[in-house]
Amino acid sequence: MKHAEILGWLRETSPGRLETLWHRADRVRQEYVGGEVHLRGLIEVSNYCVRMCMYCGLRAANDRLGRYRMTPEEVLDCARLAQRLGYGTVVLQSGEDDGLSAEMVAGIVRQIKAETPLAVTLSLGERSPDELALWRRAGADRYLLRFETSNRALYERIHPPRPAGGYDRLELLGELGRLGYQVGSGVMIGIPGQTFADLADDIALFAELDLDMIGVGPYLPHPHTPMGVGLVAGAAGNEQVPADELTTYKVIALARLVCPRANIPATTALATLNRQNGRELGLTRGANVVMPNLTPVRYRQLYEIYPNKACVSETAEDCHGCLRGRIAALGRTVGRGRGDAATSPVPCSTTSGSNEYAER
Ligand code: 5AD
Ligand code: FES
Repeated sequence: MKHAEILGWLRETSPGRLETLWHRADRVRQEYVGGEVHLRGLIEVSNYCVRMCMYCGLRAANDRLGRYRMTPEEVLDCARLAQRLGYGTVVLQSGEDDGLSAEMVAGIVRQIKAETPLAVTLSLGERSPDELALWRRAGADRYLLRFETSNRALYERIHPPRPAGGYDRLELLGELGRLGYQVGSGVMIGIPGQTFADLADDIALFAELDLDMIGVGPYLPHPHTPMGVGLVAGAAGNEQVPADELTTYKVIALARLVCPRANIPATTALATLNRQNGRELGLTRGANVVMPNLTPVRYRQLYEIYPNKACVSETAEDCHGCLRGRIAALGRTVGRGRGDAATSPVPCSTTSGSNEYAER
């Protein structure tokens, strides 16, 4: 799909035209990854973070947040619960927490792999290539690291580097692929200063990176962050991407069209904007994954990346029942097995077929 077509869809306002986008995305989703919705059990293992991202509630300078780090045994208990609930994957997510030592993480991964058939996805931020390699050897299958925006200047404005100097995320994504991980990335939608052209570039980059997993969600202002109180204003004017539901569906649908085989979640951030049926609409407009939260309730309230997060007070069993019901109501089935990314001899971008937007 050409940049101009992606841009055309991002600017589209006609409900009738958008229906054709939703249908195309849904058709491509059915054709390439089928009707199963895979459940990934999310374990928010630590909310400590050494970074200072301008938008994120976990940033080091947010001293109003109580911090926690789960013990290996607590993480193992969540993984066992995931297995009992029939999930194929657990996702271990955290802030950039140097207190989660490479060895500790490797030990947890080894134990999950030894005890259960679960696929293990890590989402622990920017870590050294040596650590990523260690975790891969310990058995980790997949890694999520969003590039957040492909606009370099905007990226740098909202991501102060580690004091000691950090890693280039795109380079890390390449390294993850070389290490044999299934690689996931994604962006926030509606970052102040993000233009439609930037977002079209982001979607083109999903294809270029040939991602196995693509996670996107609206930017949600957090009052205890500089961006959340308007201190990091961007100047995109009329070209500013709205951080809304409709734009999120467009990006999910376009991600499906440019990467037909990718696993694409309907995210919690989307459910936060529309608790009633945000996830359902995501699942009928390109998404094929949801991530029920397995974090113990006493901790999940503290994993406050943004405020009013959906499901903060529900238990793992609540979310499990809720999501199963929602999936069944859509006429879809819960995925069985690990739900790995389908591999294809044909990479992302070249497979998405007709060129409806440009043709009109
Ligand atoms: N609003 C929406 N998404 C956010 N993230 C972090 N902070 C926010 C926020 N305020 C997203 C980032 C990160 C992911 C784990 O959560 O994209 O990669
Ligand atoms: Fe958590 Fe519905 S998914 S309550």
